[in-house]
Amino acid sequence: MKTTALCMRGVILAALVFPAIALSQTPTPTSSGAVDPGVRPGAINGQPAATPTSPLPLPSVSQNLHPVGALEFFENGLGRFMDEEVVSGGTNNGLGPRFNFNSCSGCHSQPTIGGTGPANNPQFQVIANNIVTSSNTIPTFITAHGPTREARFPFFANSDGTPNTSAPNGGVEDLFTVTGRADAGSCSIQQPNFAQAQENGNIIFRIPTPVFGAGLVENIDDSTLLANHRAQASNNFGISGSFNHNGNDGTITRFGWKAQNKSLLIFAGEAYNVEMGITNELFGQERPTPEEEQAGGLPANCLNLSGNGYPEDATNFVVGANSDQSAQNAQVPPDTDLFAEFMRLLAPPTPSTTTPGGASSISDGKSLFTSIGCSSCHTPTINSTQPSNVTASLGNAPVNAFSDIELHHMGTRLADNVSQGGAGGDQFRSAPLWGLGQRIFFLHDGRTTNLLAAIAAHKSSGSEASQVVQNFNLLSNQQQQDLVNFLRSL
Ligand code: HEC
Ligand code: HEC
Repeated sequence: MKTTALCMRGVILAALVFPAIALSQTPTPTSSGAVDPGVRPGAINGQPAATPTSPLPLPSVSQNLHPVGALEFFENGLGRFMDEEVVSGGTNNGLGPRFNFNSCSGCHSQPTIGGTGPANNPQFQVIANNIVTSSNTIPTFITAHGPTREARFPFFANSDGTPNTSAPNGGVEDLFTVTGRADAGSCSIQQPNFAQAQENGNIIFRIPTPVFGAGLVENIDDSTLLANHRAQASNNFGISGSFNHNGNDGTITRFGWKAQNKSLLIFAGEAYNVEMGITNELFGQERPTPEEEQAGGLPANCLNLSGNGYPEDATNFVVGANSDQSAQNAQVPPDTDLFAEFMRLLAPPTPSTTTPGGASSISDGKSLFTSIGCSSCHTPTINSTQPSNVTASLGNAPVNAFSDIELHHMGTRLADNVSQGGAGGDQFRSAPLWGLGQRIFFLHDGRTTNLLAAIAAHKSSGSEASQVVQNFNLLSNQQQQDLVNFLRSL
């Protein structure tokens, strides 16, 4: 039944009531008069539209503990993607000692599970919802309706707190600690000094990237990406571009804001450890802050808090006799495998042909997107994926991601001074634009909710996109509106 699995995903996801929030975003006109129509209503891939009155329940998934077939693996992975983790003594253990949130779906939920940060920021609610105690404070950059974020300090600090620009850092500084939780023993650690980093301008943010269609991106051969690169090389817009690579095997990496990660499995393992503090078969050690690592690591009373040893998420050799002794985890594959299967099988977003602005405005906007040069980075379709040994629909398929998966220099306005693999401080992966119409926050740090502001930010000293933005600025009001309508149709 492999071939039918992808079509059936629509059915599964249609059952999820995961509303995209009553977003009364006020359209913001620019000086030119074009207006971002705001978040396109309806959720992704034919799911029910959000309503102001529907609450935000996690859908109940029937999880077959012994999944057989792609569909059951997908559902099982979806369930694990939504699981809320605790430190110890529960059904899903291993949270912390440092973490950014307690479930994957908390951060990846707009417009539905697998997406990006929602309108109601779950990180703002962690004390109210007893995920952390009041020994934590909510950093000022986490607000009730602002972007869900992770933070990084570009540089290690001198003793007076100022950045030491000859000591690059760039690692994730987890926002919260388990300190004070009843299930966290005597572990007592402080949050990083976010206020000081902000005062010294030594902090940058990243928002979650959606994973719809990620299985297709994962299954593009390097030769296909390189051919697309060659096809774009003759553009007249001053755009070059390069790929990020895995340092060990030398192949192209593709996931994350800087295309820093190779595969969904590696990303799942890293996210489980970095975002949630859960060690696993890919990342087996508890993760201190970068500063703590230099100073000798985590204190002993913050290690092995779950009491079961490491890794906290592991293959269960005997079904029903796993380390947690819990039904939920009485399954052979580890969570990381199932997270990856869920994301791999999650359908790409389906664009609207009529909303907003009508079919002719959208199609005019689509032509302009190419003629002014946006498509030289945001490649509308990369044709096509490798044959797939997972499910037929992942093979020989077009990837309508609106991305070349390349890194581009984006100039001083977007630079975050963090290097990852071959990506330097001002380089980012052309953000995939599929699903854009139903996103709330834009750019790597979520600095804007307005597409016109996102476009304007592409232009600054050192950016490969400056000339294209210049082209955009020269369009008539109607043409700019068509282009923005097109973006919101995605
Ligand atoms: C605290 C919020 C948060 C949580 C929890 C979280 N993520 Fe993410 N996720 C992010 C952010 C931020 C990024 C972008 C990171 C970057 O590139 O700098 C991201 C990116 C990703 C990507 C890359 C997708 C792409 O195409 O770029 C994958 C895959 C992913 N997350 C999977 C997971 C999984 C699986 C879990 C649960 C184990 C998880 N995430 C938990 C915030 C979160
Ligand atoms: C030189 C390559 C390049 C060109 C040309 C370019 N972009 Fe981008 N675009 C990027 C990169 C890289 C990012 C991610 C930047 C960041 O987050 O800091 C991005 C981000 C975006 C985003 C935000 C997406 C998100 O996930 O938050 C939008 C919207 C966007 N581009 C639209 C456009 C439009 C419209 C044009 C043409 C007017 C255009 N871009 C031209 C490279 C480019």
